[in-house]
Amino acid sequence: MLKWLFGQTSSDTAEVKGPSGKGGSGSGKPEVLNLTPETVTQAALEQMATTPDPRLREIMEAAITHLHQFARDVKLTPAEWLVAIDFMTRVGKTCTPERQEFILLSDTTGLSALVNLMHDTTAMEVATDTSLLGPFFRENAPHFKPGEQICKNISNGEVAMYGRVTDVKGKPIANARIDIWQTDENGLYDIQADASGAMDSRGVFTTDANGNYLIRTVPPLDYSIPMDGPVGALVRAQKRHGMRPAHIHLLISAPDYRELVTALYLSTSKYLATDVVFGSSSEDLVANVVENDPNCPLKGMPAVHYDFTLARMSEADRRSGRVGSDPSKIGAN
Ligand code: BEZ
Ligand code: FE
Repeated sequence: MLKWLFGQTSSDTAEVKGPSGKGGSGSGKPEVLNLTPETVTQAALEQMATTPDPRLREIMEAAITHLHQFARDVKLTPAEWLVAIDFMTRVGKTCTPERQEFILLSDTTGLSALVNLMHDTTAMEVATDTSLLGPFFRENAPHFKPGEQICKNISNGEVAMYGRVTDVKGKPIANARIDIWQTDENGLYDIQADASGAMDSRGVFTTDANGNYLIRTVPPLDYSIPMDGPVGALVRAQKRHGMRPAHIHLLISAPDYRELVTALYLSTSKYLATDVVFGSSSEDLVANVVENDPNCPLKGMPAVHYDFTLARMSEADRRSGRVGSDPSKIGAN
């Protein structure tokens, strides 16, 4: 599917068909498209109808139909179109292996949230709600033992996270892998705080035989998305605050279960209802930090207790990719 994305061979090249315009042989007039604002959409669709890949054809037909209608609706001028092209060019130029401005554009327009929410409806069982992976996930984070601290600096206090990973019927999932990542005590991800690439405030934990996990971290902070690029300029032009509510990202996986990409949002954040990237989309993902929780295995430490459930993996899940990507992998091939 969508093989064209990964390079095209000469045998894939579709036979070029001529236009189906008016005139032509017999009328004495040359065969041209004779377009109007109303007919250009149909002409574009007819030309693309040769696309052999059915999913590519479906996606491009819908994209062209909606894009053309959008341009007609707002009566897009040539000058405005050039502003848009300039903007998209700057979005592309802002991307590096560490920074994905296109993901940020998708996030701040709600498109990432929409794609994820639609994807959630395809799960074969109702498990823990999902949330955006975001642009700060990194593969190959360090592994920790239960209860170990993932942050280098803890001078502003620590917080424990504990609970269980089970299937939707409550059966514990042993050896589930929990990737966790969050902002440090200054509200920055390691990628932002340290240009050397050193990892901090992220790690991998494994559940025990009863599905229990125990993580030691610092309280995450509300933080601003990167506002120094073209997407930040757009967000500012819209008079939006650019903030995300304090949260902890988690990616939980186990063989034969659908990978869970989610985040827990602190109930104390004032940005829960206005998250600039629409990630705090479920009240079930709001967590309380409890002082002196008697059940927390790390005594005396403020704690978040959260149990996660994983849905069984369907055949479609096996074929579909992850809901997000390590930014360094995008465009790398
Ligand atoms: C994040 O949660 O890390 C994030 C998500 C979307 C855009 C920026 C940051
Ligand atoms: Fe985040």
